[in-house]
Amino acid sequence: MNQHEDFLPYNLPDISEAEIDAVVDVLRSGWLAPGPRVKAFEADFASYAGTKHAIALDSATAGMHLALLASGIGPGDEVITTPTTFAATVNTIIHTGATPVLADICPDDYCIDPAAAERAITPRTRAIMPMHHGGSACRMDEILALARKHGLRVIEDAAHALGTQIGGRNIGSFGDATVFSFYPTKNVTSGRGGMLTTDDDALAERCRLLALHGMSNDAWDRYTARGSWSYQVLAAGYNYTMTDFQAALGHTQFSRLDAFQRQRTHLARRMSERLGALPEIVLPAERTGATHAWHLYVVRIRPGMLTISRDEIIVAMKERGIGTSVHFIPIHHHPYYRETYGWAPGDFPVADEAFEAMLSLPLYTRMTDAEADRVAAAVEEIVHGHRT
Ligand SMILES: Cc1ncc(COP(=O)(O)O)c(C=O)c1O
Repeated sequence: MNQHEDFLPYNLPDISEAEIDAVVDVLRSGWLAPGPRVKAFEADFASYAGTKHAIALDSATAGMHLALLASGIGPGDEVITTPTTFAATVNTIIHTGATPVLADICPDDYCIDPAAAERAITPRTRAIMPMHHGGSACRMDEILALARKHGLRVIEDAAHALGTQIGGRNIGSFGDATVFSFYPTKNVTSGRGGMLTTDDDALAERCRLLALHGMSNDAWDRYTARGSWSYQVLAAGYNYTMTDFQAALGHTQFSRLDAFQRQRTHLARRMSERLGALPEIVLPAERTGATHAWHLYVVRIRPGMLTISRDEIIVAMKERGIGTSVHFIPIHHHPYYRETYGWAPGDFPVADEAFEAMLSLPLYTRMTDAEADRVAAAVEEIVHGHRT
C-alpha cells in the first residue's frame, strides 16, 4: 500500500460544486471587490448570530484588531486573554499598543478560567478576550458577570466557534463583539476571511471605517451608478475588507453549516464511543447547556498511565498514516512573548499540564465513518501497546 495515498490528514476543506459555481459567477460578473456578495453574506450572518451588525473582513485577526481599536483600547491598557490560543489573539492586543495579560485555563475545556481572569484584573484592565477552544463554549455567564462588575469589554475570539451554542443561542451576541474565522481549516471557509458581529452601533461604525482605510464610503458605493466618486479619510485605517469572491465561497459554505455541524457531531460521537472505553484517554468535554462546534477533537492523555509521551504518540499516529496536531503551544512558551513579557513555561500550570498531554485528532466533514474508525483504532492500538 502506498503510504502517501493512504495518509489521512488532520484537516481538509469541504468544497462542493456549489462553491465553485458561486466563485466562478463572481469572477464572471466583473466585480471582485467588496460588493453585493459581501452584503448578502453579512445579512445572513447577522441573522444567524442574532446581532444588528455582521462585518465581513479578510481574517479573524483583522476583526479582533478592529474590535479592540474600536473599543478605544491602546497604550497603557491591559487586555486579559488565555495562554492556550493562537498567536493572533495576543498579537492583536499588542498591535493596539496595549499589554496582553494571561489568565490560566480550565482543565476540562481549555478555555479561560473566569476566576483566574478575575485575579488578573488591575486598574488598567479594559477588556477580556475569551477564546472558545476547539468550539467548546467558554463560561460566558461568569465572564460577562465579571465584565459587568469591573466595567470591561468582552471581545470573543470565536475563530473555532461557528456552530457553538449556549442555552440554545448561537455564539455571536454574548460579548460586545465576537469574531469568527473562515481560514481554510475552519468549520466554514472563505479561503481567508473573518466576520465580526456586534449589537453596538458605534463599534460597528468605527470597525467599518477602520476596515477600509478610514474612508467615509466603501468602494461599492463609490464605483456604482448610485455612488459618488468623492470620499474623505476620517482615520488612518487598514485594508481589512473581504472581497466578493471570498464572500461567494464563504456564503455558500455558510449555507451548508447545519449539514457540516451534523456531520462533525456524528463523527465526534463515533470516535468518543470507542475512545471513551480507554481509561488513559480524557475525551473532549461537552458542557451542560452548550453545544460543541467540533472544530477540533482534542483528547488528553492521563498522566502516568502510558509509557509513551504525547510527542511519541504523534509520531506513532503518523507511522499509521494519520495526521494530528496540538492546539496550541501556549503563548508563554514562545520566545517573543517570553522575551517581551518575561513569561516562562510553568507560569500557567493548568495550561502547561494540558499542553503536555493534549492531542487534536483528525475531524472534518469529508471524513467517512470508516476513517473515523481508523483514527480510533490507531489510538486504541497505541494505548494497548504502551500501558504502564
Ligand atoms: C484561536 C484562533 N484565533 C484566531 C485565529 C486567526 O484567524 P484568521 O486566520 O482568520 O486571522 C486562529 C486561526 O487561524 C485561531 O485558531
